[in-house]
Amino acid sequence: MSDPILRLSGLYTDIAQYHILQGVDLEVPRGQVTMLLGRNGVGKTTTLRSIIGHWQARAGSITFDGADVTALPVASRVKAGMGYVPEDMGIFTDLTVEENMRLAARSGPLDAARLEWIFGAFPALKTFWGAEAGNLSGGQKQMLSIARVMAEERKLYLIDEPTKGLAPAIVSTMSRALRDLKEQGASILLVEQNFAVARALGDSVAVMDDGKIIWTGEMAELAENKALQEQLMGLSMEVH
Ligand SMILES: Nc1ncnc2c1ncn2[C@@H]1O[C@H](COP(=O)(O)OP(=O)(O)OP(=O)(O)O)[C@@H](O)[C@H]1O
Ligand SMILES: [Mg+2]
Repeated sequence: MSDPILRLSGLYTDIAQYHILQGVDLEVPRGQVTMLLGRNGVGKTTTLRSIIGHWQARAGSITFDGADVTALPVASRVKAGMGYVPEDMGIFTDLTVEENMRLAARSGPLDAARLEWIFGAFPALKTFWGAEAGNLSGGQKQMLSIARVMAEERKLYLIDEPTKGLAPAIVSTMSRALRDLKEQGASILLVEQNFAVARALGDSVAVMDDGKIIWTGEMAELAENKALQEQLMGLSMEVH
């Protein structure tokens, strides 16, 4: 693969005494959506946290946009162009929706055209622009956390389970917003347990098990091969 935006080579991450990542090798191509799939507890969130720098890898390397960022702190990786949406929502609950969005645009004022796009994708954020984020519904908080990473252009979006716990109608809203982002040519590494969403958005796939990547390939290949889905993840995509 030529010049991926992100490359993980032999990444090992420990949490306390546990060896969680056990040699992760992964390439994220530019301008594509790469899905990171796998059963619960296999290390998907740990991988994203290691990429953004919330966990420091014990061994291995992280190359981002051609530079070695393995030893850099989170702030430097964000400055270099990574955006991260954590599994448990990265919002400031005691600030308003507007304040959350203004803080998310680190390089200056919010871009008006981007904000219009975000309001189009998530009308609730326009409605509750002046409200405290802590008072939003669970789904609206999730929209705000995605909207915050969309507040300015990033070289790579790391997004952990954006549809988790959302009602079906809101899953579609979220999925459309991510598709918009994809259509703008964004490079995205996405953890997503909803296979309908994963299949609709994903270009390529990396499947994790037990702290390692056990399969990589095209989403089209995985989507049509139920036996492979069973083998890699212990369930077929149809069951979700
Ligand atoms: N802060 C922590 N302290 C101790 N163990 C942790 C911590 N965070 C994660 N782990 C362990 O690391 C392993 C991988 O967790 P991780 O959150 O990366 O999995 P995941 O693939 O994202 O799972 P899920 O699909 O449930 O979100 C699990 O066994 C988990 O218990
Ligand atoms: Mg997780």
